[in-house]
Amino acid sequence: MTRIARKTVGVLVFAVAACAQNPLSTPQDVEVGRRLFQTHCSYCHGSSGEGGRGPDLTTGQYRLGGSPEQLYRTIRYGIPGSEMPAVRASDDDVWRMAAFVGKIGSAGLDEKARGDASAGKVVYETKGKCAVCHSIGKDGGTLGPELTDIGRRRGIGYLEESLVKPEADVPVNSRAIRVATRSGQTIVGIRLNEDDLSIQVRDTNDSLRSFLKANIKEIRRDQPSLMPAYGSVLSGKELADLVAYLSSLRGVQ
Ligand code: HEC
Ligand code: HEC
Repeated sequence: MTRIARKTVGVLVFAVAACAQNPLSTPQDVEVGRRLFQTHCSYCHGSSGEGGRGPDLTTGQYRLGGSPEQLYRTIRYGIPGSEMPAVRASDDDVWRMAAFVGKIGSAGLDEKARGDASAGKVVYETKGKCAVCHSIGKDGGTLGPELTDIGRRRGIGYLEESLVKPEADVPVNSRAIRVATRSGQTIVGIRLNEDDLSIQVRDTNDSLRSFLKANIKEIRRDQPSLMPAYGSVLSGKELADLVAYLSSLRGVQ
């Protein structure tokens, strides 16, 4: 067998194995899975799987494995000892939800941006000053979400929108709040933790702040995104290049 032929057979075998693993993963199945997810899962994992009471499912990294079969099992049986319940649905519908989860964990994988990624890296580091709030790998700020694998988790359209209309889709864990203390201080930031007695906030200087609720006058949770809009700061080409750079960040696999 020639090298090319062997490679083709390998790809075919892989494709068949992948199908055999999730028998229900056509676009229609994924769409049904998305709707089932809204009913059974979104109140813990968020309506786009961005997380809330349960973990973010868009990262493509799952503690108990991300193969179709492993996702099927996690959803079918739940995670004993945790809040994650076994779902009440037919086996077919569980496969469809597994297909949907697989899809949101790799939304950007099939897409190719038209901009120039290396020019976009320069925009990121210089004019955009994105690293003040975001990290890639170990470097950068922590006020905004880590971007190490953003190109795998998010499609091109989402990335474009994040830059020009950041308030459109703010992940639950990044929603801004404003805390007014009894002593007259006002702090804007992102809520990290909260219990009956206290609340911890990462403020806009990227510092960790902790307040006793007894000392707080008011907490406002309906604040706009802390991510600046870049539509008027960057040119069309700079935006396209930046999107290409973000799309190229596929994380460490
Ligand atoms: C009552 C809240 C709740 C509901 C409802 C729920 N989950 Fe979860 N889910 C969790 C929690 C909490 C975890 C983390 C458990 C742990 O790792 O200890 C989790 C974990 C998971 C994981 C594994 C994540 C990982 O990193 O390994 C997947 C996949 C998942 N859920 C999918 C779903 C799907 C699909 C549904 C709907 C059928 C669903 N969950 C419904 C709370 C929930
Ligand atoms: C002042 C801090 C700040 C700066 C500067 C900033 N961001 Fe953000 N960014 C955030 C916050 C906070 C969020 C989460 C809230 C949201 O999505 O609107 C966010 C969200 C994002 C998201 C969506 C992430 C996701 O998982 O949904 C992307 C992509 C992004 N920023 C890229 C950039 C790029 C590229 C730059 C530089 C041009 C930049 N940001 C500059 C704070 C910042």
